[in-house]
This record gives sequence, C-alpha cells and structure tokens, in this order.
Amino acid sequence: MYSKEQIIANVLAGKSNVVQQEKGAVYAPANIALCKYWGKRDRTLNLPMTPSLSISLAQKGSHFAFEVLNEEKDRVKLNGIAIDAQHDFYQRLFSFINLFRRNDEPRLNIDITSTIPIAAGLASSASGFASVVKGLNILYGWQLSCSELSLLARLGSGSACRSLWDGFVEWQHGSRDDGMDSLGIPLDLVWPQLRIGLLLASSDKKSISSREAMAITKQTSPLYSLWPEQVAADLAMIKTALAEKNFTDLGEASERNAIAMHATMLEATPAISYSNAKTAAWVQQVWQLRQDNMPVYFTQDAGPNLKLLFLEDRYTDILQLFPDVEIIKPFSV
Ligand code: PMV
Repeated sequence: MYSKEQIIANVLAGKSNVVQQEKGAVYAPANIALCKYWGKRDRTLNLPMTPSLSISLAQKGSHFAFEVLNEEKDRVKLNGIAIDAQHDFYQRLFSFINLFRRNDEPRLNIDITSTIPIAAGLASSASGFASVVKGLNILYGWQLSCSELSLLARLGSGSACRSLWDGFVEWQHGSRDDGMDSLGIPLDLVWPQLRIGLLLASSDKKSISSREAMAITKQTSPLYSLWPEQVAADLAMIKTALAEKNFTDLGEASERNAIAMHATMLEATPAISYSNAKTAAWVQQVWQLRQDNMPVYFTQDAGPNLKLLFLEDRYTDILQLFPDVEIIKPFSV
C-alpha cells in the first residue's frame, strides 16, 4: 500500500515546491462518464476496479485563480463568496493542497468558480481537482504534462483524472499498486454533432458521497461481482460506436451502463438511490420518446440530475420537450 505523499514524490521527482509564479488562473472542464467508474481497488489512491470513459463539458467546469498572500491564513472564495476553514469544501481543498505545500507555505488567496452546481452529481469535484493541479503546476513551475497532472488529480477525486482534456477521455484503470498506470488518455476523435442536455433535478448536496456509496456497493451488493464484465462489454461497444459515429449504439451502451450502475447500488445494504421524482419522470419521458422514434438517451451519475445524449439535428425538439434543459456542445469545431 502506498500513501498519496509517496506517489506525489514519484510524479514530482526532481521538481521543486518553491513558488515560481505568484499569481495565475486556470480552467478545467467537468466530464460526464458514458461508461462509469464505480468502485475502488485502492481507496487511498483512488484506483478504480474498472476502466471508464467520459466526455468533457467544454465551458462547464471550474475556474481556479490563485495569488500568493503575505498573511497568516489562506483565503478562499467559492463562487464569489468567502468561505472559512469550517466549510467542507475548504477542508477538502486544503487537505489536498497541503499534500504539496511545505509547512503549509505559501499562504494562498484562492478564487474558485464552478459553472456547474457543486456536489449535485454534475461532476464538479472532477473539474475542481483538475483545476487545482493545473494551478499548482503554474504556482510551482513544474511544467508537468497533462498525463502527469492526471495522476495527481486522481488523488483528489478519481474522475478528476479525466478532466485534463477536452473531448473523450478513457481512464485506464491500470494494474500497478502504485497507480502510475492509472490515468486519463484522451481519445483522438471528435464528434461535432454530439450534444449533452443537463437536466437539473436538484442542486442540493448529495445525500451520500460517491466515495461512501462506492464502498457500500462494492462490499454489499450481490450485483457488484457482475460490474467489471458489464463495464468491459459497454466500454467496447462505446468505443466502437465512437469510432463509427454510431449514435444508437453509443446511446444504448451509455444508458445501459448508467442503469446497471444504479441497479447495482439499489441492491446494496442499505440500498442507495440517487433518483428523485423528477429523475424518474424524465427517464420515463426519454423512454417514451424513443418509442416515438426520437433518438435521445440518458445517463445519470451520483445525483438526481439527468444528462441527455442526442445529436444536433434534435436541438429544437429537445428544447421544446425539456424547457429547462441546458444544452452543451462538447466540441467547438
Ligand atoms: O470521482 P468521484 O469520486 O466523484 O466519482 C464519480 C462517480 C461517477 O460520477 C458516478 C461516475 C464517473 O465515472 O464519473
């Protein structure tokens, strides 16, 4: 078993943690998994049981600005509001940043703005931790590659290792105990017509963290033993569908994978459900639309919000059918 500190020392071998740049601003996109990560083989290093594959959300993500302070305490603003050391987010942020600072130096003024609701299953922790490692890379002048930053971001939150790139990213789960082979790999393909529709059922904090829920599922759900096989089949189908631009196969495999993840959680003890009445109604609506020959699919993460998958030519229909939907265009080309 390795500690986070050991892995950081490995990744940063030969690099200093002396401030090189006093001020900077970076951005990392959120990502939505089409094939999900659910369950860890190492809870300290966030090493997953299986691979996963995501699409980044372009302009939806986290802006991270920092400035070195000549003061005794760090200062943090989250979405424009100052938060103190008692705040959950503050604690999570600094327990991560302090893995990299010597004796808690330097003190920092941090401004982090998320363009998606925090902790509502819209993957804000992924873009958050990816933006933090990008910021530290500038602060300390490490000049690390995105792959190296992916290894570091994973230590903050598993799915963050996929938020270092735009477009499709596969997280190769790797087999090494030190996790040096468990990182995001961008896929060399674009799908300009692909659209993601965000349906916000609630922006409240999740009822149970994904970390906790994964552990309970892995330990108690009789269905969990089938999960690696499910992922292998869905991932293969998704990758082929992406290569062939076969939207039906992409939608079917992605939706099936999300349903399998939630079914596996429902079989846990205690049962875990992230859905609410709105989620259930939207799922029925999507299924009805498909019966009426409309190619729209959904995926759902650790929260009640639904993400619709569809192609550009259905833009107007989707807006009419789901008036509150926020439509993301993952590729700018
Ligand atoms: O990285 P975490 O701990 O926020 O877990 C993410 C879990 C899911 O969003 C449900 C799936 C995924 O692959 O992003």
